[in-house]
Amino acid sequence: MEQLLNLRDLLDHQVEDLTSAEDQIIEALPAMIENAKDGRLKKALNEHLQVTKEHRKRLDKIKQLLGTQQSEDAEGKTKSFLERIFGGGTKCKGMEGLLTEGEKVIKEDMDAQVKDAAIIAAAQKVEHYEISGYGTARAYAAQLKLDVVEKLLNSTLNEEYQADDLLTALALGKVNLEAERGGNAARRGNNRANGRAQATKPPARAAKKSAVKKKSARKKAAKKKGAKKAARRR
Ligand SMILES: [Fe+2]
Repeated sequence: MEQLLNLRDLLDHQVEDLTSAEDQIIEALPAMIENAKDGRLKKALNEHLQVTKEHRKRLDKIKQLLGTQQSEDAEGKTKSFLERIFGGGTKCKGMEGLLTEGEKVIKEDMDAQVKDAAIIAAAQKVEHYEISGYGTARAYAAQLKLDVVEKLLNSTLNEEYQADDLLTALALGKVNLEAERGGNAARRGNNRANGRAQATKPPARAAKKSAVKKKSARKKAAKKKGAKKAARRR
């Protein structure tokens, strides 16, 4: 198996990895947008979807500038670095894992405000992965004196930072607070429901005791009534 040889190969690998990551994000963001309740969060995610599509196009431009870096395997088929390292295609497994975790959270049954906080957490994990990838790729491009590539990578990196900062501002400004209030209200609702259930369904022993008490009360009342009738007859 051919190995990564130099910094330029590492740069190609990062660009391939980021291409797969951006493709997966474009696919996953609509579900996050649909599930977000807070208007500003929905808007921020929507805008980031459009920005992500631009990032994907920018990566194509970068790949053009770098030239397609592929090699042939034993059967003569061309394979990218990612395919050769991880096998089975060029899908970025790191991003796949983060998005799978995010999807699980979205599918959970939870208070809408709590879900907004969870969506922000999932989106920020994605952003941090991208910041790491683009930061590394930009540093490689700078080292290799690939000025145009460096500039393009830097533009995307800055936009990823902006998206991350906006999500932090939304979380700290409103969403986390709403999640705390919403989650507590939901818990109080559950407690009330449990209380009602206990009140309407007394334990079997208590129910039996209460039935016995009622029976003896009825007997006493009947006896009293009988005694009164007898007294009237006298
Ligand atoms: Fe991106």
